[in-house]
Amino acid sequence: MSESAPIEHPSGLTSGDFTEAEDPLRLFATWFEEATRSEPRDPTAMSLATVDADGLPNVRMVLMKSFGERGFVFYTNVDSKKGQELDRDHKGALLFHWKSLNRQVRLRGPVERIEDAEADAYFATRPRLTQIGTWASKQSAPLESPRAFEKAIAFYAAKFVVGAIPRPPNWTGYRLRPLLIEFWQDRPFRLHDRVEFRRDTLEAPWQKTRLYP
Ligand SMILES: Cc1cc2nc3c(=O)[nH]c(=O)nc-3n(C[C@H](O)[C@H](O)[C@H](O)COP(=O)(O)O)c2cc1C
Repeated sequence: MSESAPIEHPSGLTSGDFTEAEDPLRLFATWFEEATRSEPRDPTAMSLATVDADGLPNVRMVLMKSFGERGFVFYTNVDSKKGQELDRDHKGALLFHWKSLNRQVRLRGPVERIEDAEADAYFATRPRLTQIGTWASKQSAPLESPRAFEKAIAFYAAKFVVGAIPRPPNWTGYRLRPLLIEFWQDRPFRLHDRVEFRRDTLEAPWQKTRLYP
């Protein structure tokens, strides 16, 4: 977007003046719905940041599979680096960047594993080959040989040749429950709008603050 462009979304979409919003989840839902219409690729893609045992940050992409009052859910292998880091610290941060709208949303907060029944239900919706791949992947572990993954896929394809495939015990969902949600909207001349919603505890009301860009 050039710095002399008018103040409007590149997509032509509008959601009113978001800085007036009082409910961050409703605002997120509006922005997400707009991103669903305007992003050329998956609007659920988000960066997940964790820290390792030395405090060194780690960041990678994951897909948001649901969001709401209870938090933002993604799925992964619990033995992966992120799984180990989440199970040790129970904290994380998420970042959405919707380029088509020149917007970002940042979230921080505690992270917990979701209930088994919820993970089972989501796993059951995945394509069969994806389910087999999930069983076969030792996510983040060194690949022993170039053929090792193919062999593992063949093994589990034969093992689960008929019937429903159960969820692997080391694969589940995590839910980040935000204590902070920040909305950022590009404006001309770098006069960007930033609105931060913060709460001290998960039960506390949200406090809104506008921030310098
Ligand atoms: C767009 C995109 C979406 C991804 N979604 C997921 C996901 O939902 N779950 C997951 O475990 N890995 C996902 N990945 C792979 C991760 O970014 C990462 O490579 C992998 O989970 C291992 O990360 P770790 O070693 O830090 O645990 C995705 C990658 C991309 C590029």
